[in-house]
Amino acid sequence: MCGIVGYVGEKQALQVVVDGLRRLEYRGYDSAGVAVVSEGELDTRKKAGKLANLESLLGSDPLPQSTIGIGHTRWATHGGPTDLNAHPHVSEDGKVAVIHNGIIENFAELRAELMAAGVHLSSETDTEVVAHLLAATLPAVDGDLAEAMRTVCRRLSGAFTLVAVDADQPDVVVGARRNSPLVVGRGEGENFLASDVAAFIAHTRFAIELGQDQVVELRRESVTVTDFDGGPADVTEFEVTWDASAAEKGGYDTFMAKEIAEQPKAVSDTMLGRIGVDGQLKLDEMRLAENDLREIDKVVVVACGTAYHAGMVAKYALEHWVRIPCEVELASEFRYRDPVVGPGTLIIAISQSGETMDTIMALRYAREQGSKVLAICNTQGSTIPRESDAVLYTHAGPEVAVASTKAFLTQLVACYLVALYVAQVRGNKYGDEIAMIVRELQAMPQKVDLVLDTSEEMKELAEELKDARSVLFIGRHVGFPVALEGALKLKELAYMHAEGFAAGELKHGPIALLEDGLPVICIVPSPAGRSVLHEKIVSNIQEVRARGARTIVIAEEGDESVVPYADHLVRIPACPTLLQPLVATVPLQVFAAAMAAAKGHDVDQPRNLAKSVTVE
Ligand code: AGP
Repeated sequence: MCGIVGYVGEKQALQVVVDGLRRLEYRGYDSAGVAVVSEGELDTRKKAGKLANLESLLGSDPLPQSTIGIGHTRWATHGGPTDLNAHPHVSEDGKVAVIHNGIIENFAELRAELMAAGVHLSSETDTEVVAHLLAATLPAVDGDLAEAMRTVCRRLSGAFTLVAVDADQPDVVVGARRNSPLVVGRGEGENFLASDVAAFIAHTRFAIELGQDQVVELRRESVTVTDFDGGPADVTEFEVTWDASAAEKGGYDTFMAKEIAEQPKAVSDTMLGRIGVDGQLKLDEMRLAENDLREIDKVVVVACGTAYHAGMVAKYALEHWVRIPCEVELASEFRYRDPVVGPGTLIIAISQSGETMDTIMALRYAREQGSKVLAICNTQGSTIPRESDAVLYTHAGPEVAVASTKAFLTQLVACYLVALYVAQVRGNKYGDEIAMIVRELQAMPQKVDLVLDTSEEMKELAEELKDARSVLFIGRHVGFPVALEGALKLKELAYMHAEGFAAGELKHGPIALLEDGLPVICIVPSPAGRSVLHEKIVSNIQEVRARGARTIVIAEEGDESVVPYADHLVRIPACPTLLQPLVATVPLQVFAAAMAAAKGHDVDQPRNLAKSVTVE
């Protein structure tokens, strides 16, 4: 998620803005930039890399003094992390500068419209179109930047926070918000705009959270908020009680807690711009030739850790929807087992960081065998997408906590989108069948939001079980990778022995582990009752309970068949079989984080672990 700061007041704007951006560095970014308005001129400086690179540029090529300015730290989504793609973006006449957080879904058609009108666009970003549209609109609204912003926002679809300044209006900063956060900081003779309060609480603790589809006009002495049509908007002012560190975590105790809570939006953002109004997939961005997809005879997923578990879910979806074999390989094992891959194999390399050396070496090996590689990655411009033939980025935003949560759910979404797209291209599914599954997928962000309501009971359960010697996880079908992921979370956060099993495997040995009171977390597949899978997992639960296990059952709302065998029943929203990992995983994430906290561990930075394992 990008960092945004705007300022108008009596102080030197550049210092306020850069300090604010530094407060937002935790959000993760790959370029930074600022713009100020001074004596009728707009000046910008922007640089790829960290803030230090921008400050070095400002030292060698300083900006003029100014009391109005905006600044941005960019987490790249459209277009790599380069100087050119860094924000602010400026209109052709050099008068309007814009910074942006989010995804403008319809930027391609707006870009085409501008190019047809003779506008020269210099970057690969979706944001730049807004700068040109604002400049083109200003003359029609008597130069009123707020009105121009309202006019332009009415044409945009997607999720966006926008902040703009205009050289011809040196006393106003204008912002707009749809889906991505934007808060106002109200000061004495000065006002602030930011992605979150961390950027300005050193100056003021009085804030206004902007609502959906609102535009704010900031002057030294006034803050005016309207809806996109110019009508009055009701806003509430609040006083920030957090300290700076808590503000970075959005008021949550840990980054992991914040990132778990961000999952509904991350899941939704990863679908943005990729599904047409007719329910068909639009994945041209992958630049995978349709004929290549028609000619593949096998898919091999290579990944590590949590990303590997996402790949296991992808296998079920690909084989069910596309009817071609899909193998899932631990990247660290793949190239040493002399795998059978070649030009007919599509390799899918899944990685949050894009820098996992095991996965890099696996994809290099596969390319040497002539296979095409599609990366599913959360980090623009990282090594894995750069070395792949194609990439589908997840839009989880920066994941600060070492234990992966929102990246995992967005990897699942990306895998579903790819599998449906391949089925659509190869004709395995009719358009209406694809559209039906897509509609179910589009309903998932709300279900992920709902399942967050289990957080308190999972925290209580963790407190009850914190002295357990071990915890087992069992699941069937897509519940098996969820069991593995739940066990991994508990291992890496609570430093406990935890193990996930395919429930059908218990009787082949692991059942010997069972003893009185041993917690066994059982993931029951959806839909309730209407599958042989469901009957079998219920009998597995009976088996473990009969041997003294303490059964914690994760089952969908309304599934009464499991009640007699559950010592503790955690309800999740009903959803289609293949999509259940999106909701079943969340309680396990919360459980592991709570267990770590109960044991006094560092939840965000567990011992011995790195966020990106860049060695083999
Ligand atoms: C997940 O909680 C772990 N931090 C780890 O297993 C991680 O998923 C794995 O190292 C792969 O990382 P990547 O997605 O950045 O490639």
